[in-house]
Amino acid sequence: MSVTDPQPPAPDARTDAAQEALHDRIAADSLTTRRDYLRIVATVSGGLAVGGIGVASGILHRHGDSDGSPEIMKIADRIEPGESLAFRYPGDEDRAIAVRMDDGTLAGYSAVCTHLACAVLWRKERGSEGELYCPCHEGIFDARTGEVTAGPPPRGLPKVILIEQADGSVWAVGTARSGESLQEGYCRQRGQGSPLCARLEGTATETGGGTERSERT
Ligand code: FES
Repeated sequence: MSVTDPQPPAPDARTDAAQEALHDRIAADSLTTRRDYLRIVATVSGGLAVGGIGVASGILHRHGDSDGSPEIMKIADRIEPGESLAFRYPGDEDRAIAVRMDDGTLAGYSAVCTHLACAVLWRKERGSEGELYCPCHEGIFDARTGEVTAGPPPRGLPKVILIEQADGSVWAVGTARSGESLQEGYCRQRGQGSPLCARLEGTATETGGGTERSERT
């Protein structure tokens, strides 16, 4: 099942307060306090506003290029196995896609093909894990890593770094360039001194799609 851009939640003072608290906590990188349970997953940002030729030639901005700290943004209340989610990150024009595989792995990639910037779709029924597919020239990307598996795309999809909270909500906290690990992308944007930067080292998130789970004690 595919899901379109998430709708803004109905106003709720408790929800707003909880989201604000989470936002502040993540922004401060205080991810090691008690009673939290976070999953850190890969994803991507997109940008259809970028011209295809410019993207292909590397002249224009590509997703994940930012050296600054992208906004921390809730993208969904939850994403169930077998679902995909289209969203925009880090900017309003940056198209991205998150997918939840049947084994629970949550991954996200730019919805902008690295060949000529057509929209990338998830084909869940392909293979054991589905695939990310660009219909313009039959470009195919690995759903678990974002790497090119077929067709003309010159490089893998950039990633977006997501945190999944205990209540299932999914938050985008950063991006990583094509070929860059989640840790490299996160640390470049949030700083080497951030606790999460250190915790990403050596996780299964090196190429995207992996999951890190941490539980406060
Ligand atoms: S634009 Fe995606 S394969 Fe050509």
